Amino acid sequence: MQTRLLKRSDASWAAEVVRERWNGPFIVSKGKVHDTRQLPGIIADDEDRAVGLLLYSHEGGDIEIVTLDALEPLRGIGRLLLDAISARAVEVGVKRIWLVTSNDNVGAVAFYSRCGFRLVHVWLEAITKARSLKPQIPLKDKNGVPIRDELEFEKRMPNQSPDPTPASGTPAAQVRRQGE
Ligand SMILES: CC(C)(COP(=O)(O)OP(=O)(O)OC[C@H]1O[C@@H](n2cnc3c(N)ncnc32)[C@H](O)[C@@H]1OP(=O)(O)O)[C@@H](O)C(=O)NCCC(=O)NCCS
Repeated sequence: MQTRLLKRSDASWAAEVVRERWNGPFIVSKGKVHDTRQLPGIIADDEDRAVGLLLYSHEGGDIEIVTLDALEPLRGIGRLLLDAISARAVEVGVKRIWLVTSNDNVGAVAFYSRCGFRLVHVWLEAITKARSLKPQIPLKDKNGVPIRDELEFEKRMPNQSPDPTPASGTPAAQVRRQGE
């Protein structure tokens, strides 16, 4: 398996992945609407088959992972794509890679935690608010769990220290309402 940058000729395949998996093409994170058709990306190929897609936004010195999909779960595709975006971040001098996922996505929580990302914020009701921008976001997941909050994960790149920890200690993650 290997990774490569998304090319113009991958656009319709990528659009189909985002449509099927995220009711694309628009993705809302922390109140911002991303048009995924405009985003750069990385593809994982297994021989001549595309099996994974990561779309990202590079703004303000950070990289945000906007979507990440392993079309065949638990084969190392997700980790491979995170390795590729980390390498890219180092290459372009980015300090931090971050993303949000929804409160119901316990698989993603386990995955990002296994892959060296840390939960740094819980944005309460961020998804409730995002529904005004993207009404297709379901109210509940397939297990009936209400989808309401965004969980923000980050990975600091080598030689980039995390924010200083106050002497009294800091909560494992900051819980805020969007807009605070
Ligand atoms: C989340 C996702 C990208 C993970 O990709 P993947 O290719 O299945 O993950 P990998 O095989 O690379 O797994 C890497 C590690 O995470 C762990 N992991 C992955 N999914 C997990 C899950 N659902 N529960 C627990 N652990 C999980 C693996 O066991 C592995 O751990 P290891 O290093 O101890 O072996 C994939 O499940 C997916 O596409 N989900 C749907 C879309 C999504 O939720 N994307 C993320 C939010 S943007």
